[in-house]
Amino acid sequence: MIFPDMLTDVPVTRLVLSQIELNKDLPDVIKVVNDTGVDYENVDAFSAIKPAPLLAQHAQGSFSTPGLRGQRITSGYLNENDARQTGEHILYTGQDWSPRFLVTSIIRPDEKSMTIKATDEFAGLSLTTVMESILGGSMRIRHTLTNEKQGSYALEALEVQIPLDEEMTEYLDFSGYATNERLPQRHQIKDGSWVREFRRGQPGFDGPIVVVGTPGFGFANGNLVQAQLAWSGNSVFRVERSVDEPASIRVGELLLPGEITLECGESYTMPWVMLSASLEGLDGLAQSNHAWQRSLPAHPKKDLVTFNVWEAVGFNQNWNKLSRLASLAAEVGTERFVLDDGWFHLRRSDKAGLGDWWVDDLTWSQGLTPLINQVHELGMQFGLWLEPEMVNPDSDLYRSHPSWVLQASERQPLLQRNQQVLDLTNPQVYDYLFNLISAVLADNNVDFVKWDHNRDLLEAGSNLHNNAPAVHRQVLSFYRLLDDLRNRFPNIYWESCAAGGGRIDNGVIEHVSRFWTSDMTDALSRQDIQRWTCQYIAPEYLGAHVSGRVSQQTGRSFSLNFRAATAVLFAFGIEWDLTQAEDHDLNDLKEWVDWYKSERSFLHSERFVRLDLQDNQIRAQGVVARDGTRAVIQHVQCGMSSSKRGLRLRVPGLNRSALYRLSWIGPNCLLRDKGSSLFSLPDKPLSGALLEDWGLLMPWCRPQTIRMIEYRQI
Ligand code: DGJ
Repeated sequence: MIFPDMLTDVPVTRLVLSQIELNKDLPDVIKVVNDTGVDYENVDAFSAIKPAPLLAQHAQGSFSTPGLRGQRITSGYLNENDARQTGEHILYTGQDWSPRFLVTSIIRPDEKSMTIKATDEFAGLSLTTVMESILGGSMRIRHTLTNEKQGSYALEALEVQIPLDEEMTEYLDFSGYATNERLPQRHQIKDGSWVREFRRGQPGFDGPIVVVGTPGFGFANGNLVQAQLAWSGNSVFRVERSVDEPASIRVGELLLPGEITLECGESYTMPWVMLSASLEGLDGLAQSNHAWQRSLPAHPKKDLVTFNVWEAVGFNQNWNKLSRLASLAAEVGTERFVLDDGWFHLRRSDKAGLGDWWVDDLTWSQGLTPLINQVHELGMQFGLWLEPEMVNPDSDLYRSHPSWVLQASERQPLLQRNQQVLDLTNPQVYDYLFNLISAVLADNNVDFVKWDHNRDLLEAGSNLHNNAPAVHRQVLSFYRLLDDLRNRFPNIYWESCAAGGGRIDNGVIEHVSRFWTSDMTDALSRQDIQRWTCQYIAPEYLGAHVSGRVSQQTGRSFSLNFRAATAVLFAFGIEWDLTQAEDHDLNDLKEWVDWYKSERSFLHSERFVRLDLQDNQIRAQGVVARDGTRAVIQHVQCGMSSSKRGLRLRVPGLNRSALYRLSWIGPNCLLRDKGSSLFSLPDKPLSGALLEDWGLLMPWCRPQTIRMIEYRQI
């Protein structure tokens, strides 16, 4: 059978499954396809090379990593008669470690969802697999394991298996670190296991995602499958292949020792695995994710131009400077002004204050109200920075409750950025944070919160549970705290930040409206960070701020046009001490803000594309209307090309037989900028087919310059 089996206008990700029969093995996944619902007659006649259900099972003859790993632990008497006399009590371990699930029911509430229930009666375990086709054409899948029998079931892992076509031999994932997020790395599938573990208690600067496809896949070409874990905690990704089993991806939450122990009747539900397939390369996968994200309730329908004060003032907050910045921000057209770290009790540096969430009465002797009022009077929203999950040892909170931090033993974890992580699974901690943060938000007229998280979860055990690992429950508590606050303050928008882009994933995206993509605001470095984060997050979520002329991170200098054009396709903002800006900078910045405002509804609702180019010094990206009538494409010359030949931009998604007029587009300051090499574009209209297949020739351009071209159907 095929799931989902409805006909669609655009291709969607589907699983071709072997026949599902009651009291038989779990169905095999024969193939992952992306189509509009072809009638696969007699598809059941096909079979997988080797049984390949969504849960890999040793009991079905697989010698690869089983999808369920765990064991039952019971206690009893070795020999009942003797034991009654001696009282000798022993622990039995290692039972029910190799289940073979047989299907007990299939539930199809509608054509877009399916639940398969299965059980192994002897093992006393049942498995529920839910599949959902989601808007945009991706699919999500997860298993729930239930312990049906006496004795504790110590769960080690529960993973979804996605078998791959043999032609898919290359895969991509991301490395990365703070200020250099999402560095792509490519690999060849070989026999054996490739394992990627994310153990920081947050998705991290790399990203919980793997893409596998046909060799040499690019943005516009390749038969690809992408798997992600929609989860803000630990995760594990495997790509496995053996001499007798086809390659597959396996994805699940990475569980720490003893983290999940199921007593009789208890269940564990893993996070969703998001599965996307595409015959049109990486962009096809990304666009499918973006379309789903655009349907979410917290999606930023219109991302406001955001001014964040961090790079302008750091921890040195004072009324005069901030009031001046607010006025300048409003003058250039800012719609939201965000007061970053440094506003609360004794927060003068990153050494003290976290946990004491009340306004510092020395820095802000009149409270925040005068600034907030000014910001509102200037017509902007007011945003506030928080880092709720953290505490500095130098804080009133820590001094009164040192045991509230996560720790794996008597010893506390190594400090990172002078801070520890609070145990949100402790109801007292949870209530403290909910009440204190609610008070701050209720007392101050806050419209937006930047929720930061500046360290990893290291040795994250809970003092409430004898220091047993608590990452899984910490992540659930984080979601709950965020949701409780969202419910209490339904008009506030929330941004996820973790030392830049350390908590960007398709789990937290259901709770927030914006991400701080990276603390790297150097425009040249930002190009690639944004380009690759878009692989799984829509551009309008990705905060992209214009910073000062000299980058605080790298010391490099870029023109305002290069900085602003780098940000303008994304969630545009400013992170610049405007009191230091020249008048002409302020004028040009205002032009960029105005242009962004006039184009954001187009840029943030249509298809984001990245072009494949044979010059590693050039990037090209932009947005193409779904109906193909318009495109806006940026040509970015990063460094010196190794030739002066130039190259062709081939834009996908235009109407092949229609004619297009090409023109430069952008704010006047870009169009006036000789440095951006605005040469002549063809004055005759060109067909969509020509522009897509042959492409527009772009000559050599000066490094660190950007041009934007509009393609308009006539
Ligand atoms: C890390 C964030 O990424 C920055 O933007 C800033 O908010 C600092 N934290 C503040 O401590």
